[in-house]
Amino acid sequence: MGQWRRRIHHHHHQYQFPRRIALPAAALLLLFLAVSLLSFSLPVPPLTGHLGLASSSRRSLGSSRSRRRPPNSSDGEMDGGFSDIRKNERAAPIDLWGSKLASNFYGCSNSSGKFLDSSVTTQPDRYLIIVTSGGLNQQRTGIVDAVVAARILNATLVVPKLDQRSFWKDSSNFSEIFDIDWFISFLAKDVNIIKEPPEKGGKTVKPFKMRVPRKCTPRCYLNRVLPAILKKHVIRMTKYDYRLSNKLDKDLQKLRCRVNYHALRFTDPIQELGEKLIKRMREKSRYFIALHLRFEPDMLAFSGCYFGGGEKEKRDLSSIRKRWKTLHINDPEKGRRQGRCPLTPEEVGLMLRALGYRSDVHIYVASGEIYGGEDTLAPLKLLFPNFHTKETLSTKEELTPFLTHSSRMAAIDFIVCDGSDAFVTNNNGNMAKILAGRRRYFGHKRTIMPIAKQLYPLFMNRANISWDAFSSQIQIVQKRFIGEPMEIMPGRGEFHANPAACICEKTDIKSLVELNSSSNRESVRSTEISKPIGEPTYPIYTDEEADRSDTEDDPAERGEMIEMEAEDDSLVRQEDSELEEILSD
Ligand SMILES: *[C@@H]1O[C@H](CO)[C@@H](O)[C@H](O)[C@H]1NC(C)=O
Ligand SMILES: *[C@@H]1O[C@H](CO)[C@@H](O)[C@H](O)[C@H]1NC(C)=O
Ligand SMILES: *[C@@H]1O[C@H](CO)[C@@H](O)[C@H](O)[C@H]1NC(C)=O
Ligand SMILES: *[C@@H]1O[C@H](CO)[C@@H](O)[C@H](O)[C@H]1NC(C)=O
Ligand SMILES: *[C@@H]1O[C@H](CO)[C@@H](O)[C@H](O)[C@H]1NC(C)=O
Ligand SMILES: *[C@@H]1O[C@H](CO)[C@@H](O)[C@H](O)[C@H]1NC(C)=O
Repeated sequence: MGQWRRRIHHHHHQYQFPRRIALPAAALLLLFLAVSLLSFSLPVPPLTGHLGLASSSRRSLGSSRSRRRPPNSSDGEMDGGFSDIRKNERAAPIDLWGSKLASNFYGCSNSSGKFLDSSVTTQPDRYLIIVTSGGLNQQRTGIVDAVVAARILNATLVVPKLDQRSFWKDSSNFSEIFDIDWFISFLAKDVNIIKEPPEKGGKTVKPFKMRVPRKCTPRCYLNRVLPAILKKHVIRMTKYDYRLSNKLDKDLQKLRCRVNYHALRFTDPIQELGEKLIKRMREKSRYFIALHLRFEPDMLAFSGCYFGGGEKEKRDLSSIRKRWKTLHINDPEKGRRQGRCPLTPEEVGLMLRALGYRSDVHIYVASGEIYGGEDTLAPLKLLFPNFHTKETLSTKEELTPFLTHSSRMAAIDFIVCDGSDAFVTNNNGNMAKILAGRRRYFGHKRTIMPIAKQLYPLFMNRANISWDAFSSQIQIVQKRFIGEPMEIMPGRGEFHANPAACICEKTDIKSLVELNSSSNRESVRSTEISKPIGEPTYPIYTDEEADRSDTEDDPAERGEMIEMEAEDDSLVRQEDSELEEILSD
């Protein structure tokens, strides 16, 4: 998201962070990266497999098929499929616009019979106020978790306050982004939610301010927050992001899904424009790709990666980088090798073409400020000339009411990306993860999250191998992460990206019956899914990685007791979190 922020004085400051603040930020970055790596390090065929492919197609060097650029759609590249390489050397082509297996699964977030009604659980005199943090989608995770935290504490939740002072600078309040009445009524049975903080004798009760560590478990809430809420009655937590553990029992995970996928709806004006843009994309072609492209200068500078822009890029990015005194010199090559660098627009384009999307496909690009602007986008536009954005699809009048609000602009992109047939990102930020999870929940819509670490050597080698070999290798690598059911083990990765507790498989009998009457005949039994993965057998707690990700706390906050905040938390906030927020779209 967020590019449309109004950061007028931003670049004129040289922020110098006190160590106490810079360290948590750096630690958070590491955590972010670690989690990204964990969730993407999926097994791939050994490298020798790639080499074999590469060398076999090198034999055809010189023929028209050894082009180093993708062929134009007009010359039949996709129609003949992969006739130009012997069949057994080629990965089976992926289904570009959907998953055949998807129809065997459905989103299931209803609570179990054991989950008591909020009228039973809600205790009087327990109120939770939270203030979210970061960009729109990071705030969304905070809202989701706040509902669950209130439920754990048997407390009434005050509608979350949005972060209006973040890097992204958006003054919108909750009701200007989300349908507040729908939010409250949809969750009425789960958690009592009120719009305004409680009053006593006509006066707002002064809340007790505290924070919990990141990824605080339910037990952690009961140990740390419950005593405080019993005593003080109204608790206020700021910077509420990732404050609840990834791992929770199934009913609480399902509550997360009810909030995220059902209770949070954008307001009508946002929803209407988003849907209008989807409709306009569909008028152009039957299917479309949405690409969430993060390539803002700050984000690139912070990543420490090199994106091929020569001396100018190095100068530009290193001058931005100087704003963060505590960033050490890094090795751009290493970053790429480790898959920590967002793909360039050209790399995304090449990956998509390699996967089989033709140059005549229409692509919606959700992005903000792009470093290098049109020059950076040019190679992508060459690969996909039918290039659209919300700016090109809407009239000035339609977009104007949203322009000055980065979160509303991000929400429009969110809707179009969600409505696309194939969604692809060049990054592993919050929007990418939330949309990936959402698309799994709503029918495993095709979602391509680049496995940067494994794609990197292929991009490096691109000039030296034929297009066909390149394409085939990209397919082999990326096929593992295109939004198929069960491609990530339940419990692995972040819950927002892999909401396994909320995805159920149709029972055998039922799916057989349905298959009988549908055209999707072959899918159930003839697939790679080797073990039954019906909902009751989900090993929700058994995954080590999930466990680890919950204990991999922000080191600076580990062991922290209830942290009292200064009276005026604006003093505490200031710019301390700018670093994180560059990553927190
Ligand atoms: C392929 O497309 C490019 C860009 O649209 C165009 O310049 C080129 O002439 C085309 N090549 C062929 C063989 O059609
Ligand atoms: C979930 O609950 C809703 C409302 O009670 C009901 O309409 C729906 O069928 C339920 N879904 C499933 C999958 O049980
Ligand atoms: C919340 O209410 C339920 C049902 O009354 C009770 O079992 C549980 O212990 C309560 N938890 C807290 C933290 O008050
Ligand atoms: C949210 O903003 C709208 C429009 O500026 C305003 O009418 C409303 O009172 C605000 N709500 C809260 C809770 O501040
Ligand atoms: C590509 O091939 C050239 C010439 O054969 C060689 O010098 C170069 O190192 C190769 N590049 C890569 C990335 O393998
Ligand atoms: C599927 O259809 C076939 C023939 O059309 C029928 O014999 C079979 O019983 C059906 N299976 C189920 C599970 O309904």
